[in-house]
Amino acid sequence: MNFPLSKFRNTTTPFYYYDVDLFERTAKTALTQANKYGYIVHYALKANANERLLRILSGMGFGADCVSGAEVQRAAACGFDPKSIAFAGVGKRDDEINLGIDHGIFTFNCESEQELEVINELAKAKGKVATVALRINPNVDAHTHAHITTGLAENKFGINLWQLDEVAKKVQRLSNIKLISIHFHIGSQITELEPFVELCRKVNELQDQLEKIGVAVEHVNLGGGLSVDYHHPDEKSIPDFAGYFAAINKTIKLRAGQKLHVELGRSIAAQCGSLVTKCLFIKELLKKNFVVVDAGFSDLIRPALYGAYHKIENLTSPSTESKKYDVVGPICESSDTFDKDVSLPTTQRGDYLVLRTAGAYGEVMASQYNLRSLPKAVFSTDLK
Ligand code: LLP
Repeated sequence: MNFPLSKFRNTTTPFYYYDVDLFERTAKTALTQANKYGYIVHYALKANANERLLRILSGMGFGADCVSGAEVQRAAACGFDPKSIAFAGVGKRDDEINLGIDHGIFTFNCESEQELEVINELAKAKGKVATVALRINPNVDAHTHAHITTGLAENKFGINLWQLDEVAKKVQRLSNIKLISIHFHIGSQITELEPFVELCRKVNELQDQLEKIGVAVEHVNLGGGLSVDYHHPDEKSIPDFAGYFAAINKTIKLRAGQKLHVELGRSIAAQCGSLVTKCLFIKELLKKNFVVVDAGFSDLIRPALYGAYHKIENLTSPSTESKKYDVVGPICESSDTFDKDVSLPTTQRGDYLVLRTAGAYGEVMASQYNLRSLPKAVFSTDLK
């Protein structure tokens, strides 16, 4: 990824910089690999809901995966076909459900019996039939960070296996909802293919189980979770979509005419985005050297929240010597640390630094803590 430094100088830091070319190439690769098997890719807006990026994806034919009414609205406004919008989430408000019904979305991915009843009631009041998916908790370990693992029986997500038959039968008695899909999502930043393979095996078993009670669905949705390489953003800038879809294809047993869906967020958006920040001060203490930058955890919370790693580079230092620094932000909490003991060329006030692989779950998770401004987005295509 190239950073057009001379152009950056007119922009107030910190900001997110998006390499649109890389974004498009990544999205295209995902689609090409999915198309080999006729699979449908929904983009998970939660990773990055920037309108410019969304319009690119809707233009390419991605479906959308949303987790709030506002995301459903944003997806529709940015050109996604409402019939391609899956609406997930363990706590949907009535107004959000109504919005989804009005848009005639693809599926409400339902997580409890009560939710199914409420959607049925709300659809009935409008004289409509809402199409739903059962989000099933498959009890598959994704081997990822505890905060972003979702497919274990102890997590709050989905309908547990022991309830499945009862819930599936119940749906069939409700006349204003139609069950068309089963949905799964076992976690995010899953670095091995094995958990996905295990999920596919589980799906095969569950399809048999559901068939025994006379339940057949037209769609199977495996959710998202494919990882990116935070340590080598340039060597592996496009994730291994080929390996991912091939692994699914090898294991999953679809019924005749059944469509397979995935919901990818991070793997589409992460590598194309970087947080650009400037060094405000250097603090050299007895035991430590600090680079104090003008971005804080209000701009990128992943290191503070998950202990996540983002590669840090100094774009402007002419120095050939390197030093170890803790790279910290201006917020008055020790957790406002992007990384410790990072080896960087000797850094000075005014140097530009970048935190790489920040295109997913970066800008969308920013806050205005300390009344700081939200970071802006800058696109490579605007700087040419
Ligand atoms: N589908 C569902 C139902 C999800 O809950 C998620 C992400 C996705 C799809 C997309 O997963 P992906 O392909 O991006 O892994 N803020 C955290 C990540 C939270 C992910 C939550 N669910 C982070 O910064 O790592």
